[in-house]
Amino acid sequence: MSKAAITGIHGYVPDYVLTNTELERMVDTNDEWITSRTGIRERHILKGEGMGSSHMGAKAVQGLLEKTNTAPEDIDLLICATTTPDYVFPCTANLICDMVGIRNIGSFDIQAACSGFVYALTIGSQFIETGKYKKIVVVGADKMSAIVDYTDRATCVLFGDGAGAVLLEPNEEGLGIIDSIIRSDGVGQNHLFQKAGGSRYPPTHETVEKRWHYVYQDGPSVFKFAVKNMADVSAEIMERNNLTGSDVAWLVPHQANKRIIDATAQRMGIEPERVMMTIHKYGNTTAATIPLCLAEYESQLKKGDNLVLAAFGGGFTWGAAYVKWAYSSEL
Ligand code: ACO
Repeated sequence: MSKAAITGIHGYVPDYVLTNTELERMVDTNDEWITSRTGIRERHILKGEGMGSSHMGAKAVQGLLEKTNTAPEDIDLLICATTTPDYVFPCTANLICDMVGIRNIGSFDIQAACSGFVYALTIGSQFIETGKYKKIVVVGADKMSAIVDYTDRATCVLFGDGAGAVLLEPNEEGLGIIDSIIRSDGVGQNHLFQKAGGSRYPPTHETVEKRWHYVYQDGPSVFKFAVKNMADVSAEIMERNNLTGSDVAWLVPHQANKRIIDATAQRMGIEPERVMMTIHKYGNTTAATIPLCLAEYESQLKKGDNLVLAAFGGGFTWGAAYVKWAYSSEL
């Protein structure tokens, strides 16, 4: 059976850089607290009226198509992982397809908060493995600045905006997505969520006044679950694929907090030099963190490298993927 290999990657972040120093002027915080508690120094923010996650997703997909010399009409399926869709409907994947000239194919969104990219990759890989499709684009795109309360110091320092896209194609050499695990537990629903704007609490003056349209996070509770579950799921995928820490070339963790990443890497026996890290400059871009990491480190990846992708997010959701990287970059 073919494996689904990542054969191209492209990332996009908007130009505007929101630094810790600027946040110091907005809320009662300081660079030392943010850096030491999270590892974040700056994040990119999408400015401009009428631009949503699809704008960044389309930039990532456009770059991916150009880089891989792929014509829009050759794409069989596009999946977008996002927690900040442009609209409740139509889905952001539909909008991205329209923006880059991909027509008459299936496209849909996956909503699994910060684990969205691992979920979408897992789903996309099934269509390749069964032989149904030959070229699938998986995008992670989030404009977290649209749902972050910039008067709440506990959350506004954490998030940024960005997008990343990968191309999935069949591989007959045993390279690609070898295994994946996706998990969820609704026990986390009240610890990390956006209360209003959906069907349970549609927008009213009251929901706006109560600031229910913004991200709410009980940080310490989420932190405990995140450390445990990201480490557990990474250990599980290594064990069931007979991998030890020294077999893993790169850990590609969701970038929510450097302390969570460090704890996961330590549990897996992976030194810091083999852990992809972009949190200092992008913050938590939700579904975009993992593809942005891959884009950032692409030039260092070699054909056959073992990668473990690991994520944790609202829901709670979490997951991991074991990927044998399919190409060495010519950069
Ligand atoms: N600046 C200064 N002080 C602050 C700030 C800030 N920006 N934010 C909070 N504090 C204060 C608190 O008020 C508190 O003060 P107190 O002791 O006087 O009450 C103190 O710092 C400690 O606050 P904690 O919330 O306990 O800080 P903690 O060390 O837990 O760090 C953080 C908070 C960074 C949010 C951490 O809990 C975390 O990373 N949680 C997990 C995030 C995560 O993984 N989310 C999942 C993915 S996101 C998604 O799915 C959309």
